[in-house]
Amino acid sequence: AHQWRGVIAEYADRLPATITERVVTLREGGTPLIPAEHLSGLTGAQVHVKYEGLNPTGSFKDRGMTAAISAAAAKGAKAVICASTGNTSASAAAYATKAGMACGVLVPEGKIAMGKLSQAVAHGATLIQVDGNFDDCLDLARKLAEAYPVELVNSVNPARIEGQKTASFEVVDALGDAPDIHCLPVGNAGNITAYWKGYTEYAADGPATRRPQMFGFQAAGAAPIVLGHPVADPETIATAIRIGNPASWSQAEAARDESGGLIDSVTDEEILVAHRLLSAREGIFVEPASAASVAGLLKAHAAGRVPAGATVVCTVTGHGLKDPQWALRDASGADVEPVRVSVDVVSAAAALGLE
Ligand code: F0G
Repeated sequence: AHQWRGVIAEYADRLPATITERVVTLREGGTPLIPAEHLSGLTGAQVHVKYEGLNPTGSFKDRGMTAAISAAAAKGAKAVICASTGNTSASAAAYATKAGMACGVLVPEGKIAMGKLSQAVAHGATLIQVDGNFDDCLDLARKLAEAYPVELVNSVNPARIEGQKTASFEVVDALGDAPDIHCLPVGNAGNITAYWKGYTEYAADGPATRRPQMFGFQAAGAAPIVLGHPVADPETIATAIRIGNPASWSQAEAARDESGGLIDSVTDEEILVAHRLLSAREGIFVEPASAASVAGLLKAHAAGRVPAGATVVCTVTGHGLKDPQWALRDASGADVEPVRVSVDVVSAAAALGLE
């Protein structure tokens, strides 16, 4: 019986030998592209959701991490390090363990969702909480990798981009061609860079006849690319994209400009509305940062940027179980309380509105 083999084996002919030589995989990728009927109805477009929360560690980072850890293994590396808002650290910890390497993760103190923190610890990483934000952590990680024998596996590592570009291949393979518009959350801007590279390569030699417009969305309190300058104290409930000085800033602008797309911001409120819509109307549970792509689609639609009938893909980057607290509040922000009943069929039926 056939099993999906992971992104390196599935797309080996489109990846450099430095990555394919010594493959470390948890069989990441092969994630579903789900038709989103409610979103399609709201926008008049044909909307599909690429559900990256279904990767082995629950986020899209696994695509890049299988490549970065494989490249590190081929070089004989014994240890890796990364800065992270949570998902990269969870992924690095899992793949490093699989490869028998040590892993250190630098995270901003108090701003990491519990699910992600527990993953890094469970997989045996050395967890270092830094008295600073993500940008400070990345600065520190770069300096450590320059001065000590440890591989940096953030998306400034080119192998990460190579691995993550496979998501575009999967979208084209599923749809038969590139969509008209692709919406993504933007944090450190590695993923939008990777998607654009993937679409460009597929359009250059066959499987796709065209490339989509890239629509990237930052959180309003952490929107340096939209503002045109770094943000010293980024703030958003979408902690995964709480980043004030993205490493791949210029590549994100290139993806926007070459594709005739846009990079815009969405408020925390808009993110939470989209988060609720995805879970309550589409059956797709994501973490808040992931919902920025859908919040952005709704904003772009309201601004007249989404033609009727356009094919749209929204990537939702991380699983809802990473940071579940947001689901336990209603639209007004109040805690959701269960209905309490005694062990009694009539009361349970009444609670369900059946009586
Ligand atoms: N969505 C989620 C769930 C993320 O974890 C991230 C980035 C992004 C979107 C943005 O992707 O950085 O490539 O633009 N998380 C990184 C981390 C920063 O450390 O886990 P990007």
